[in-house]
Amino acid sequence: MKIKPSGQSCGAEVTGVDLTLPLSDSTVSDIRAAWLEHHVLSFPNQTMSDDDLERFTLYFGPFGDDPFIAPIKGREHIIAVKRLADETAPIFAEAWHTDWSFQENPPAGTCLFGKTIPPKGGDTLFTNQHKALDEMPDALRVKLEGKMAIHSAVAAYSRKGGYGDADVAARSMDIRPSDTAEAKQSHPLIRAHPETGRLGIFGSAGYIIGIEDMAQADATALLFELYHWQTRKEFHYRHKWQKNMLIMWDNRSLLHMATGGYKGHDRLLHRTTIGSVKCLS
Ligand code: SIN
Repeated sequence: MKIKPSGQSCGAEVTGVDLTLPLSDSTVSDIRAAWLEHHVLSFPNQTMSDDDLERFTLYFGPFGDDPFIAPIKGREHIIAVKRLADETAPIFAEAWHTDWSFQENPPAGTCLFGKTIPPKGGDTLFTNQHKALDEMPDALRVKLEGKMAIHSAVAAYSRKGGYGDADVAARSMDIRPSDTAEAKQSHPLIRAHPETGRLGIFGSAGYIIGIEDMAQADATALLFELYHWQTRKEFHYRHKWQKNMLIMWDNRSLLHMATGGYKGHDRLLHRTTIGSVKCLS
């Protein structure tokens, strides 16, 4: 197996492994170590089936719980990230976030497999939240230390949210807005990665809607100051897709977002989530 770092703030390409076959314990352990080091791994030229995608996911944890999006037909744990050439609804996930951070135990990681990839555009962006914390000015860091962020899916998946009832008919993804999106869940703004112990920023404005024990106006101002810092270009990795490429990313270390730029072309990826992994140390 060869691991080639992207040369950006995170990300590495992995070759010399066939993900259509069962993997040995030592290969899984090498992939996990590379994932924890580089945070996003890409595996080009893997002609994986949905069975292969599920088997790969389960090497790294249990399946996560994917709310608000119906799974594809015949599978409980795979969703289609899909957009048709002529679609006009908002692009799915085109805002910085870490997956399902409003859950009590958010997923450790996400796997995404490219099935139909447009000839241009549709890159996925990542921003490294360990690096963003390491390089953060002290004046901002002292404002965040010890604070609990309040996460919620309300802005995205409630009936009036960005993926709410208004666009259901115009959208090719099977998103199911719900009143349950209004639930709240707190997590520390700065927290240790459960497997590596490395400190990082967890989450961003969007799924974070407030800060415990802080007036809303002050919390909003702080969350936007943080957002401005944590999404700076020097922390980015820009992932360029190919058909039959799998990527896996670490939701505990990164924010990510989808991008557009492929109007007139279909885009389809199959996605699984790797559920929360309890601290291994
Ligand atoms: C996602 O956040 O799961 C989708 C990313 C993408 O479509 O590039």
